[in-house]
Amino acid sequence: MSGYEGPMRVLSGIQPSGGMHLGNYLGAIRKFVELQHEYDCFYCVVDMHAITVWQDPAKLREQTFHIAASYLAAGVDPKIAAIFHQSAVRAHAELAWIFNCVARLGWLDRMTQFKDKAGKDKERASVGLYTYPVLQAADILVYKATHVPVGEDQKQHLELSRDIAGKFNHDFKADDFFPLPEPLIKGPKGQGGARIMSLRDGTAKMSKSDVSENACIFLKDDADAIARKIKKAKTDPEPLPSEPKGLEGRPEAANLVGIYAALAGKSDADVLAEFGGQGFGVFKPALAELVVEKIAPIGAELNRLEADPAYLKSVLDAGAERASTVADKVVREVKEIVGFVV
Ligand code: AMP
Ligand code: TRP
Repeated sequence: MSGYEGPMRVLSGIQPSGGMHLGNYLGAIRKFVELQHEYDCFYCVVDMHAITVWQDPAKLREQTFHIAASYLAAGVDPKIAAIFHQSAVRAHAELAWIFNCVARLGWLDRMTQFKDKAGKDKERASVGLYTYPVLQAADILVYKATHVPVGEDQKQHLELSRDIAGKFNHDFKADDFFPLPEPLIKGPKGQGGARIMSLRDGTAKMSKSDVSENACIFLKDDADAIARKIKKAKTDPEPLPSEPKGLEGRPEAANLVGIYAALAGKSDADVLAEFGGQGFGVFKPALAELVVEKIAPIGAELNRLEADPAYLKSVLDAGAERASTVADKVVREVKEIVGFVV
């Protein structure tokens, strides 16, 4: 982090564009809970990112509450960490514009998430989708966040945030004004969870937009749905190996072992020491039991919280106020550095 000497701070965000699933939990939210005890934490629902592709307005509002409720249900404490929605803190948009003038077209042209989301017909993608990673850099740097817990798919966007921070510091001769934020990709205590794959295809990441309804375990799935999806998960006919090396070339088996390890707080090697030589007829029921034990209580709490939107709104409002106090100050400093009259 070069010579930056400000406080250690964490920011992360999730888009309100669908139901929260096991990948989001293991790749992101579970880390949010751990980190709140070590750092000053800001957890955002990135509604402005969500509208880079079409969102039904009523659903967008509902999903914003869903993400906030997921943070709370997983164990983020709003008295410790700030939970808020991005559009309520105007400093994000203000800094994003300035960063649009720092980032280079060539940098954005390399972003793989844009290529994936825009598909073949990129002429019809929104301009917002193209400049999405610049807004993400603003989300992070408007708090001078030093650490960003995310899944592995966000690595490239984090590198862009570092490039923008570095170029800003350099161009304006503002040495170490912005930290160069570090991604936190591994699970707590270094366990897996960085990349959870689809239950129907071990080479595609678990995603809310998967066409197969059995591919993805949602936090709101009940015990029956969880057990059914795991039972139907794609596997191969071989028994489990007794060492991680034996998972090479077996993406579906590797994914199920990885999920077990991440939820049990063990390494893949520990799980294979226990289950090596067993078939999926034994391993799948054990996995289903563990997933139900860890996820079903979160789902129940999520349902309870979603039934109280007034409470959720009060959490978001208080979080936004707290976040604005930090972010407004940084934007004011940035305006001075850039030469705006303040
Ligand atoms: P998204 O649902 O794509 O908005 O992602 C929200 C957060 O969850 C980000 O930090 C992602 O990196 C993380 N995430 C999403 N899908 C997965 C997955 N399949 N495995 C691990 N992390 C994921
Ligand atoms: N791009 C992230 C995703 O798709 C969401 C996001 C927006 C984010 N702003 C952020 C993540 C800031 C971390 C920090 O998951």
